[in-house]
Amino acid sequence: MADTPVFEFSPAEIQEIQRHVAKYPESRSAVMPALWLAQEKFGWLSPEAMQLVATTLDLPYSHVYGVASFYTMYFKEKVPKHLIEVCTCFTCSVTGGPEMLDYVKEKIGADAKGIGKDGKIWCRAAECLGACDTAPVAQITNRRYVHNLTEEAVDELIERLNKDEEIPFSSIPLKNQANFES
Ligand code: FES
Repeated sequence: MADTPVFEFSPAEIQEIQRHVAKYPESRSAVMPALWLAQEKFGWLSPEAMQLVATTLDLPYSHVYGVASFYTMYFKEKVPKHLIEVCTCFTCSVTGGPEMLDYVKEKIGADAKGIGKDGKIWCRAAECLGACDTAPVAQITNRRYVHNLTEEAVDELIERLNKDEEIPFSSIPLKNQANFES
């Protein structure tokens, strides 16, 4: 039987949350970094994890749930460790984003919810990731972007994620570098 997580923050994690609380006039303003920390620790925001955040910040559960449910970056269901979010918004949609998402789904054997068959990677469509000049673009588990997505890049990405490897910064193509140097 899988271990049941103990829903508590360590002294170091509480200290980290207090560091955020100290930045604001009210503790409720620290709810987002506290939720983030809980998600990093437990993998997703179960009711127990959200209750822990509520108790730690002395807030009503409804407030914490309200914030968590507003943002897609907070996972309210148990999900695999790695997420590939492929942008299918306008610029990405005309440069192959939807096709890249289909390719990711096929490669990981995704079910209707985008969960890969080995339970290690999941995927979903994203709204504009703000990197339209290097479309199509994907974001990996709320962090690293992969620009100018190709099937070869997806192959490499999935291989690395399956090995829990760090995703390297995907370099800006040479034709665009001048834009960043001036
Ligand atoms: S439309 Fe895909 S990053 Fe903007």
